[in-house]
Amino acid sequence: MLEPFDIDSWTGPFAPETRARAQAALESGAVLFFPRMPFRLGNSETEFLDARLTDGKAKNISLDWSRGKLQGTSASGEKAERLAAMIERFGAGATRFVTDLLPNYSGVERARTSYRPVEVEGRAYSRIKDDRLLHVDAFPSRPMGDGKRILRFFANVAPPKAKGGGARRWHVGEPFENFAQKFTPRVRPHFPGQSWLFGKLGVTHGQRSAYDEMMLSLHDAAKRDAEYQKHAPHSAVEFPPGSCWLVYTDMVLHAALAGEFALEQTFHFDVAKMGEPDKAPIKVLERLTGKTLA
Ligand code: SIN
Ligand code: FE
Repeated sequence: MLEPFDIDSWTGPFAPETRARAQAALESGAVLFFPRMPFRLGNSETEFLDARLTDGKAKNISLDWSRGKLQGTSASGEKAERLAAMIERFGAGATRFVTDLLPNYSGVERARTSYRPVEVEGRAYSRIKDDRLLHVDAFPSRPMGDGKRILRFFANVAPPKAKGGGARRWHVGEPFENFAQKFTPRVRPHFPGQSWLFGKLGVTHGQRSAYDEMMLSLHDAAKRDAEYQKHAPHSAVEFPPGSCWLVYTDMVLHAALAGEFALEQTFHFDVAKMGEPDKAPIKVLERLTGKTLA
């Protein structure tokens, strides 16, 4: 479930065995766990350990680094600039780390960076948006098209003195294939006209593929299924303050139950460049359904 690494540096070079173990474990659906690699806040940045930094609407504060755009925060002016700089320092560091740890992943694409300062426990959202329920990641407005992977790197920056020790607590569910076997027979069929229209109207960034439709359906179906949420196999894992973790969230069933103050960097990655492309969700779903999904 958790594949631990003794690494304490954000930059390589890392030993060939370490790199090979990281890539193989990641592609097999493990959560790579780095307990000795804290992301350190500067003295003046500790003021960002404050849930009131969000605008109260968005789940997270996010930085679109390619456009230099910070969203979802109540901070403005100089404070917003320093907040953006902290998130950017994390995002750039995470990108360097992932490229050094996974040299075969050249061309991994850096997407948004987010800061999550709101306590997860007790946060109220609609069922579909509730990440305290087991799910695989799939985003309504961000199609992955030909099965592009969603890889995420997290850092827990909570102070150790925080409530409950400051750990971010997750549940990690069963292997993707087992989950997909249960759910693919029930998801509603792809409706091609809608994806085309959403693409044209700009509801989505580009057009959803059959793969995107299926992943969204699986995400929603898992969250809606109260029985599954209650009885599905899972393990409880804890990421303490000062730790980082890296996981393919489009494949690993996960639920975030508690914790505040995490940073997260999303990456996208082409299936064809994986060491074992057959393990990608699109390949698993194509095998199970006998359909071409992109
Ligand atoms: C999620 O991706 O479901 C949320 C993870 C987290 O914020 O810990
Ligand atoms: Fe998620």
